Amino acid sequence: MSFLLSVVKPPRGNLSISLITVTICAAAFLGLYYTEKATSLSAVSVFKFAACSRKSALPRFPAEAAMEERKGVREMDDRFEFDAEGCSVIKGKWVFNSLIEPLYSDRTCPYLEKQVTCTKNGRPDSDYLRWEWEQDDCFLPKFSPKGVLKKLRGKRLMFIGDSIQRGQWMSFVCTVESVIADNEKSMVKYNRSSHFVFTAKEYNATIEYYWAPFLVESNTDRKIIADPTQRIVRVDSISRHADSWKSADILVFNSYVWWMSGLTINSLWGSFPNAEEGAQELERTSAYTIALKTWANWIDTSIDPNRTRVFFTTSSPTHMWSGDWNRKNGLNCYNETRPVAKVKRVWGGDKMMEVAANVVRKMRVPVTFINVTGLSELRVDAHTSVYGETRGKLLTAKQKADPLRNADCIHWCLPGVPDTWNRILYAYL
Ligand SMILES: *[C@@H]1O[C@H](CO)[C@@H](O)[C@H](O)[C@H]1NC(C)=O
Ligand SMILES: *[C@@H]1O[C@H](CO)[C@@H](O)[C@H](O)[C@H]1NC(C)=O
Ligand SMILES: *[C@@H]1O[C@H](CO)[C@@H](O)[C@H](O)[C@H]1NC(C)=O
Ligand SMILES: *[C@@H]1O[C@H](CO)[C@@H](O)[C@H](O)[C@H]1NC(C)=O
Ligand SMILES: *[C@@H]1O[C@H](CO)[C@@H](O)[C@H](O)[C@H]1NC(C)=O
Repeated sequence: MSFLLSVVKPPRGNLSISLITVTICAAAFLGLYYTEKATSLSAVSVFKFAACSRKSALPRFPAEAAMEERKGVREMDDRFEFDAEGCSVIKGKWVFNSLIEPLYSDRTCPYLEKQVTCTKNGRPDSDYLRWEWEQDDCFLPKFSPKGVLKKLRGKRLMFIGDSIQRGQWMSFVCTVESVIADNEKSMVKYNRSSHFVFTAKEYNATIEYYWAPFLVESNTDRKIIADPTQRIVRVDSISRHADSWKSADILVFNSYVWWMSGLTINSLWGSFPNAEEGAQELERTSAYTIALKTWANWIDTSIDPNRTRVFFTTSSPTHMWSGDWNRKNGLNCYNETRPVAKVKRVWGGDKMMEVAANVVRKMRVPVTFINVTGLSELRVDAHTSVYGETRGKLLTAKQKADPLRNADCIHWCLPGVPDTWNRILYAYL
């Protein structure tokens, strides 16, 4: 038996297939699931967050109280500059506030692809727009569009990775674009929509997105190969992509979900006269390790840490089995309208990020993790579900009526959870 595991979107544009489906053997998946559970995974973080005193006078909430409701606008204690060393962004809870409005909407921002415009696509509930991530020990600064643009003056900010990363980039662009006059901004697509450049002219700043779902090169970078068993990842080659990243001032990478299409990855390294026939199946964490080492080596030899900041967005969780958050009679993320307080760890994600943390720890150039995994895991309500697209088109009524098959529980609605990821990025800038 095989079932639909994931829906991963390639860049928009001329690419022939705009959506790929990945199938995986159910038995193999279950095998993986329990292997992951059985292994004790020690948490690794490159950042040691010192105890923070800023909110220590405020009441503390028990760990299970990962949600709360509040009326009225929260008082911000902004006497202090945000100090990443003294504050753990990952420890906190989602707080509902009916009075808050996102900084943009899916009707006003012209740069959102219809994949993520849930409200515009007919999503009936809107509470998902009004949850704020609040840390236990400190406050994240509010994302200020003008403040961001000032920090980016004369700079090139580049998001690099898969379609989840494209969501983070779109969120970033939409949050700043409304404060820029029409004739002071532009959006240009290059190379069959694999590289987007948003320019804020007055600030001489660009906010770019570069499509590289594996970071390293692969045979599915330009023309998407739907069948994961036909994909070949060149785990030791990166320069075809990386040449475009060299002169950026801030680099924000991710790479996760494309590695999860099966238990092994067809990998190619070294040079073979018969090229692709030299590919070998590697267990995916091994392939990921080599690929990330290739990436790390490029960063360490090509990036001047005095000039360029490097970030890595951790794995974006998926919500494809409602049993993971103990929902009785549920399917997946479909019909969810509130965050949950707790989710069982799923999908082997910890192990992949452990690989990333181990690679990063040995690098010469410092890399800051934007650790979105835990806080996003609670947002079962925030995926595009049946209000996104399938094969480049919005779902038909008939497709919507079959959420088991058609709900997209990988991508996030915008405005939505990636806005919080960017607040964390903003705090680090
Ligand atoms: C991210 O945060 C989670 C807790 O939410 C932690 O378990 C994990 O180790 C962190 N990952 C990295 C790469 O720091
Ligand atoms: C604009 O920024 C680029 C770097 O992104 C820099 O090379 C150039 O000199 C800047 N131009 C002006 C007019 O400041
Ligand atoms: C487009 O692709 C070519 C060939 O890979 C590369 O040399 C060029 O820099 C790319 N242009 C942009 C704007 O990404
Ligand atoms: C970065 O700056 C420091 C202090 O100015 C200097 O000692 C160091 O050599 C610089 N590193 C690089 C890679 O240029
Ligand atoms: C979704 O929610 C509606 C309204 O609460 C309910 O009638 C329906 O049965 C739910 N569907 C599924 C598949 O859970």
